[in-house]
Amino acid sequence: MTEYKRYLVTAALPYANGPVHIGHLAGVYVPADIYVRYLRMNKKDVVFVCGSDEHGVPITIKAMKENCTPQDIVDRYDAIIRKSFEEFGISFSNYSRTSHELHSKVSSDFFKTLYDKGEFVEQTSEQYYDEEAHQFLADRYIMGTCPKCGAEGAYGDQCEKCGSSLSPEELINPVSKLSGSALVKKPTKHWYLPLDKHEEFLRKWILEDHKEWKSNVYGQCKSWLDSGLHPRAVSRDLDWGVPLPLPNTEGKVLYVWFDAPIGYITSTQECTQDWEKYWKSEDTKLVHFIGKDNIVFHCIVFPVMLKAHGGYILPDNVPANEFLNLEGDKISTSRNWAVWLNEYLEDFKDQQDTLRYVLTANAPETKDNDFTWKDFQARNNNELVAILGNFINRVVVLTHKYFGGKVPAQGQLTETDKQALQAIVEAKENISKNIENYRFRDALKDAMQLARVGNKYLTETEPWKLIKTDEARVATILNVGLQITANCGILFEPFLPFSAKKILKMMNLASATWDDAGNVNLMEEGKEIAQAELLFRKIEDSEVDAQIERLKKIKAEQETQAAMNAPVAPQKETITYDDFAKMDIRMGTILAAERVPKTDKLMKLTVNVGIDTRTVVSGIAEHFTPEECVGRQVCVLVNLKPRTMKNIESQGMILMAENADGTLHFIETEKKIKDGSAIS
Ligand code: MF3
Ligand code: ZN
Repeated sequence: MTEYKRYLVTAALPYANGPVHIGHLAGVYVPADIYVRYLRMNKKDVVFVCGSDEHGVPITIKAMKENCTPQDIVDRYDAIIRKSFEEFGISFSNYSRTSHELHSKVSSDFFKTLYDKGEFVEQTSEQYYDEEAHQFLADRYIMGTCPKCGAEGAYGDQCEKCGSSLSPEELINPVSKLSGSALVKKPTKHWYLPLDKHEEFLRKWILEDHKEWKSNVYGQCKSWLDSGLHPRAVSRDLDWGVPLPLPNTEGKVLYVWFDAPIGYITSTQECTQDWEKYWKSEDTKLVHFIGKDNIVFHCIVFPVMLKAHGGYILPDNVPANEFLNLEGDKISTSRNWAVWLNEYLEDFKDQQDTLRYVLTANAPETKDNDFTWKDFQARNNNELVAILGNFINRVVVLTHKYFGGKVPAQGQLTETDKQALQAIVEAKENISKNIENYRFRDALKDAMQLARVGNKYLTETEPWKLIKTDEARVATILNVGLQITANCGILFEPFLPFSAKKILKMMNLASATWDDAGNVNLMEEGKEIAQAELLFRKIEDSEVDAQIERLKKIKAEQETQAAMNAPVAPQKETITYDDFAKMDIRMGTILAAERVPKTDKLMKLTVNVGIDTRTVVSGIAEHFTPEECVGRQVCVLVNLKPRTMKNIESQGMILMAENADGTLHFIETEKKIKDGSAIS
């Protein structure tokens, strides 16, 4: 095993085309931050880098839609993302941006080195070209009819209707999204990184030398390697990105997935002159924190880039997480199905640690996991408030009440006291071991276990009952309570940095290192402590209900949107005017409505159609309640030959509009008119 002297920790660069949400935080930034805070508390030499990923086609498309420049888009989101990370205490050494000048230099130099070493293969291929816009088109810029489901408006890489992944070649009648014009094919030259040439190295490095990687990561790598590697293009025809540093390549840029990981190097250069020490010494431990969709880039492509370049170290580990869902559905920026960090803080001011806690406790470490507002509330109220907060508050308040805010003497320890103190030692050991092995959920459980022990200890020893008869015993109990509290202030720091700081402040400890933890005499007799401060507040039902309502609204909007985008039925065969004129359609008012027993669909309606009041059986019971029907004015086909359904004679038919999502809607006039009025 290598003895590492320093750490280089990276967190995936978030795309600057939207704010960051809870999925990002749970999957990447909170675990990375826990790891780094733990290392720093252990006085390790660590650099923690990240930055905004500001290139790529989606950003140019967003700019086009909003009629602004790509730079405007990334400026906007970089600012929002940066602020969110700061507010949530993600303690980067540096947060950079890939549109920075330095990055352009670092990434194009990197490319140039690989180019000069002959590490690329050049290949010319026929690509779609827009003659009006004078440019080659990225797959996303090409639209046409989906060959799989027939939907219009499918993209060159994917049909959003049926979800099939596509290539531009498969689209029927492809047109340019830029100009709407038909496309021509033109030859264009690109540079490819021949991953296949590095297969042998990758097989040994990953499959043999890194068997300890998480099984989801190892498994994905193995399946990539087993299905065969291919050369990957590292350039694109696009006018947004790092220009290709080769002569006669106007209009070509580095592929975003080539320049983005180099952003880690740029970000390191920005924050330390000594950057080479971190990137180029075998005794540096490099760890990439990412989500599962980034595994191939960090375990296969980027390592090949680094190795082909030469001089760089490779990651020791890539502890990728699975995905976090939200209330049972995949989080999606484009569908607005997310809890955005900036919005969270508007509703839950100063409650960063609650979110950090819930996201760590539910971290999708080994499988996808679900965030629900009810669970968020329960974990806050039943764990943070009822256990950790309650325990510490009682210790601090009682110490002030009985001992004037000074740490009382430890005195003679009973078996119970010793067990409680032993929990401190165990918690430290367990947390350390779990963090070092990237098991952050378990580590948090270990920390919480200590608070649980402390809380139970107080409840069972009942110092408030003993104070009148046995002050020395109470002194011991509170001394033990204070030792546990002070240790919580250290051991919770990686997870709940804001609260840990408050705890240490209450304990009057200026700063603490991991070494100080595990000490059962950390709080010396006679030391003064500060006043109790609120750590966590209860979250009310009304607060989470409001969040759930907000999500329900979004879902409803999405469904309406989906229906609006769905194709409509083709036109029926032609009829004559006489065919039409045979139908007698009139306005009527529903006077009474009841479900037809033993059916799901049928509703028995009593309708005044002007001529008379009659019974109509209608298939609307799955869409409306009887109460919703009564009093409505509707269109009725009154001369339809009566039909008997479930023993009820139906004398006519209510006309309804069926939306593309299958929902039924009444057809109404813009104001109430006389029943019996003819529709023609
Ligand atoms: N922006 C990418 C994403 O959000 C991650 C880039 S990671 C880097 O999926 F290594 F390329 F920087
Ligand atoms: Zn389709």
